[in-house]
Amino acid sequence: MKNLGILLSGRGSNFEAIAKNVAAGRIPNAKISVVISNRADAGGIATAQRLGITALVIPSKGKGRESHDREVAAALQQHKVDFVCLAGYMRLLSPWFVRQFPYKILNIHPSLLPAFPGLEAQEQAFAYGVKVTGCTVHFVDEELDHGPIIVQKTVPVLDTDDEHSLAARILEQEHIAYSEAINLVLHRKFKIEGRRLKLIS
Ligand code: GAR
Repeated sequence: MKNLGILLSGRGSNFEAIAKNVAAGRIPNAKISVVISNRADAGGIATAQRLGITALVIPSKGKGRESHDREVAAALQQHKVDFVCLAGYMRLLSPWFVRQFPYKILNIHPSLLPAFPGLEAQEQAFAYGVKVTGCTVHFVDEELDHGPIIVQKTVPVLDTDDEHSLAARILEQEHIAYSEAINLVLHRKFKIEGRRLKLIS
């Protein structure tokens, strides 16, 4: 059994999709052992409580990046977390934190990286006028929205779209992509060559 720790800051729909897939047996041998938010008002915390999953708030406000990260890492270790899933965690991780969990931290981003890193990726893509966008699940390294890619899903930009309809269709794909990526890192053998994740079997 592998323990997942979820870090989030807001709504938590990606967390909820993962939780549903775990409960339905679609991510075998996985358990969400803890959900941690840096914000007390995160919707994802209420969802975790409703689902009976341990939920912690570790406020980041006014703390140095690494000292907050040390608190988070201690909580993750206490809950015996094997993989850390960032799900709308709107905080940069310190290099110290990243080094604690090499190739064990996953992030989801609502664009086809390396296009449109950073905030409001869906709006960035819409404003740029791309005809195809999507989402990316990747390992976290010390740079923002940057590590080796695990899964990507494409989403066409329709003439009838606005930023909101586009973001909604990307989110549907995010909810599929994240569980697929977790299944891959948990259950498939892979190696990382440069930036490339390569399945071995
Ligand atoms: C998701 O769209 C996720 O891809 C994005 O925040 C949203 C969180 O939604 N993350 C980033 O932009 C990270 N750079 P959720 O709280 O409903 O899962």
